[in-house]
Amino acid sequence: MVTTTVCPFGPELQEFWEMRHDLFSRFDEGIRIDAAGLFGVKPEELALRTAARVRGRTVLDALCGVGGTVIAFARTGKLVTTCDIDPDRLAMARENARIYGVENRITFLVDDIREVMGRVEADAVYLDPPWGGKSAAERDRFGLDDYRLDGRDLLRRAFAITPQVILSMPPNFVLSDLVPFGRDFSVEQAIRNGDLLYLNAHFA
Ligand SMILES: C[S@@+](CC[C@H](N)C(=O)[O-])C[C@H]1O[C@@H](n2cnc3c(N)ncnc32)[C@H](O)[C@@H]1O
Repeated sequence: MVTTTVCPFGPELQEFWEMRHDLFSRFDEGIRIDAAGLFGVKPEELALRTAARVRGRTVLDALCGVGGTVIAFARTGKLVTTCDIDPDRLAMARENARIYGVENRITFLVDDIREVMGRVEADAVYLDPPWGGKSAAERDRFGLDDYRLDGRDLLRRAFAITPQVILSMPPNFVLSDLVPFGRDFSVEQAIRNGDLLYLNAHFA
């Protein structure tokens, strides 16, 4: 690999830093990011592809991060409500949305998403809970209990809002964990340069 610049967040995240222009094509226009945001953000083209599959006018992108998927939903014409418990990261997402010219289509909330889900309506809910770092994708299996937030609880709360729920999962996710919800779903594979980066379960 040709290394052009050194990752400001340490060598662990160098491979993600090398991807920064795939994460945000407008990275050099002032995109703001922190270490967790760099690890968690979905690449722009893949996020746009996911967003284009989602039906309806309004989306709750439950866990904002630095705004990769939020911006994609807004760019595909959705009105988005989003939330992050970390005010600094949410501020970064707001600035990043401004760079893409879509901040006016997004409502940003600093809160615990479990509080927000009880009071928000949306045609679709997108869930991208933290995996807990790089090692998550390297273990044998990853299931709903392995996210940093209780995956089952998040899904239950999302289904109380709408049947159209999208859950982002590491490539090693055990899909049988989704069966007890008794709902049909299809699986989207997010592939970049031949590598499976993550999966999305799209519930009807
Ligand atoms: C994997 S990131 C989301 C990445 C985003 N989809 C993107 O493409 O940029 C998950 C985010 O959830 C936030 N988070 C964790 N626990 C939360 C909670 N209880 N309520 C709201 N946000 C939370 C973290 O601060 C983190 O920024």
